[in-house]
Amino acid sequence: MTSSAAPKVVHARAPGKVNVFLKVGALLDDGYHDVATAYQAVSLYEDVRATAADDFSVTFGGSVDTAGLATDGTNLAIKAATMLARRAGYRKGVRLEIDKNVPIAGGMGGGSADAAATLLACDTLWGTDLTREELLELAAQLGSDVPFAFTGGTAIGTGRGDQLSPALAKGTFQWVLALADFGMSTPDVYSELDKHRDRHSQDIFPAEMQPQVDTSVLQALRAGDAHMLAEVLHNDLQAPALHLEPELAAVIELGEENGALAGMVSGSGPTIAFLAADLDGALELQIALSAARLTVVRATGPVHGARIVGD
Ligand code: C5P
Repeated sequence: MTSSAAPKVVHARAPGKVNVFLKVGALLDDGYHDVATAYQAVSLYEDVRATAADDFSVTFGGSVDTAGLATDGTNLAIKAATMLARRAGYRKGVRLEIDKNVPIAGGMGGGSADAAATLLACDTLWGTDLTREELLELAAQLGSDVPFAFTGGTAIGTGRGDQLSPALAKGTFQWVLALADFGMSTPDVYSELDKHRDRHSQDIFPAEMQPQVDTSVLQALRAGDAHMLAEVLHNDLQAPALHLEPELAAVIELGEENGALAGMVSGSGPTIAFLAADLDGALELQIALSAARLTVVRATGPVHGARIVGD
């Protein structure tokens, strides 16, 4: 008897994020900075479908333009799959099909979400049965934001951003995201911050060795209060990102003039994340920014981390 069974496909989904607070400490010898960040996972998702194959490959689709993305071994999803195969002693490969909805090189952790969803999909497909802790260790090796894409929700990240502790959060926050038609390189933005700190070392306090998330941020998240959170949104990477791409300042201003409680650069940019008071405020802001010919999407947070989706 011949088998007509379709090849098994495992579908995993992981979210993008905004950093509602990001403080960057001093540059360390390994080229990284100690950070203190409050992550919130938001409802823009990367969907990864994994099918057994002899070697490793990836294709892209989805709502964002994926034309320029690498599909070779430099791609973070391929790195995630090969790393897991090596770790688990699995000798074959995987075909990955990724639907991308998080802006590329936008400061919202889209590549990190690809990697997190790929780890989970391949772990399930191959039956490698690594523990959650083991998968999180691999995630941290793949990138500073990958563990958070795996866990989702609301969390405090320290170290490189990969040492996570959960944060209490209530309710749902409404975000309006203004997308840029260009990407920004995270290392470039960090290095612009270092240059700025070097230039002004006489006038500013030295970077903290062990930065911390302000307690006011934790309180606002715990209260689920958008007005409180808007008061304390903070991102040390905003100034260097605006220095590199000055036109982003006008986008922040436009959003704040049109009802946003606050706007800020998301992660290392260039996406601008606006916090709205409620759904009506978010819809009005979306309309106003779209009328100004900006590309805008709405999202809510917090949402769950990487999980398997039943198709
Ligand atoms: O960990 P990830 O690969 O996402 O980091 C990309 C780059 O961002 C690093 O090579 C480094 O230049 C910068 N980075 C940093 N400090 C962090 C996280 C990232 O300097 N905590």
